[in-house]
Amino acid sequence: MTVTVGSSGANEVNDTIKTRMVKPLSLGHAPVKSPISDKLQFEVIDPHDLRESQIYDFIKFRNSQEGGVGGVERQLHGREGESIFHSLLMRMTNGPIRLALVRYIGDDMLVGEPATLLKTGDVVASNESRQTHKYSPEYMRSLIAAQTSKTMDELTLQFTNPDGTPPFSTFASIRDSVDGPLKPNGGLGFLILALVDRRLRGQSLSTPLLTNVLAMHHDSIGHDYVFAYGRLPELGGERLPSGEDELNALRTEARQQFEQTGKVEIQTLNRYVQGLLDGNGRDWGLGFHRKAGAHAICGIPYSYDDPASLNCGALVIYDLKELRRQARI
Ligand SMILES: CC(C)(COP(=O)(O)OP(=O)(O)OC[C@H]1O[C@@H](n2cnc3c(N)ncnc32)[C@H](O)[C@@H]1OP(=O)(O)O)[C@@H](O)C(=O)NCCC(=O)NCCS
Repeated sequence: MTVTVGSSGANEVNDTIKTRMVKPLSLGHAPVKSPISDKLQFEVIDPHDLRESQIYDFIKFRNSQEGGVGGVERQLHGREGESIFHSLLMRMTNGPIRLALVRYIGDDMLVGEPATLLKTGDVVASNESRQTHKYSPEYMRSLIAAQTSKTMDELTLQFTNPDGTPPFSTFASIRDSVDGPLKPNGGLGFLILALVDRRLRGQSLSTPLLTNVLAMHHDSIGHDYVFAYGRLPELGGERLPSGEDELNALRTEARQQFEQTGKVEIQTLNRYVQGLLDGNGRDWGLGFHRKAGAHAICGIPYSYDDPASLNCGALVIYDLKELRRQARI
């Protein structure tokens, strides 16, 4: 069965799900910043009908971005003694992983500094996402609703223990859980990693990437919610952006706490996340999720091993029905 991004809904998907979508990229409400934004093609790799070259192209792309994702990248692939190709294929055919690619389909051109060649057909962005049953759609709905009645600290405590240790499902436990093959109309979508070619970052290519991935979760799989643990790489970054005095004070406080105790206090983290939401500064880890329409719920003091983010993340939830109503996906 072939399902296109614009199809009318999950009812069209029966007991097996095969997504093979190749179409010009829908930009949703993306702020069109990139000169190549009309020369992109989105595809979701159908594990039952894949061309080997798709996975090789993906691996080539990922390898070319080495170093760009820090700790998170190292946690994703290349488990001891296992080839990335084999690991990915198994997780896609036997498991609930979906791999999405964005290819450049314009004429060959030079990009970046120093300029290097971008060739037609090259992968310029990718996303891995999966289905998970670790939480229910009702729980995600209740967290979004609770934003009006609860403080961010209360929401974090609802999601974590008071000392910041996780009773909740960590990034790794969701990523690695053996949930069996992807089945339509069940569970939630979970975004594992969005990656944009380092030569093309800052051009909002992540928005059309996520817009199409979210539409795929809604239309082809039937998910109502997709969630992610957004990184906060500017929290632990050495660079203190000028003019962000309040957030810089919190970054310094967070780094000191992390150095002394190995974790960041919930209050410090949430003041930082709230400061970002109030527009007092930027952290690109949260910024690109919000641009794509996510609700930022609360900080998560320990979500994964990611020194750049002081192991912190932010819980973000995409309400897919809401985004569809707003014609954003
Ligand atoms: C996160 C990522 C996917 C965003 O993609 P993108 O297409 O560059 O997204 P945007 O253009 O919307 O830029 C996002 C923010 O990064 C900033 N940015 C600009 N150039 C940048 C660069 N070279 N490197 C990092 N961030 C940059 C932008 O100013 C923007 O800030 P804002 O949200 O305050 O406006 C991309 O930076 C990336 O691949 N990073 C490495 C992988 C990673 O950490 N992924 C996130 C974990 S899932």
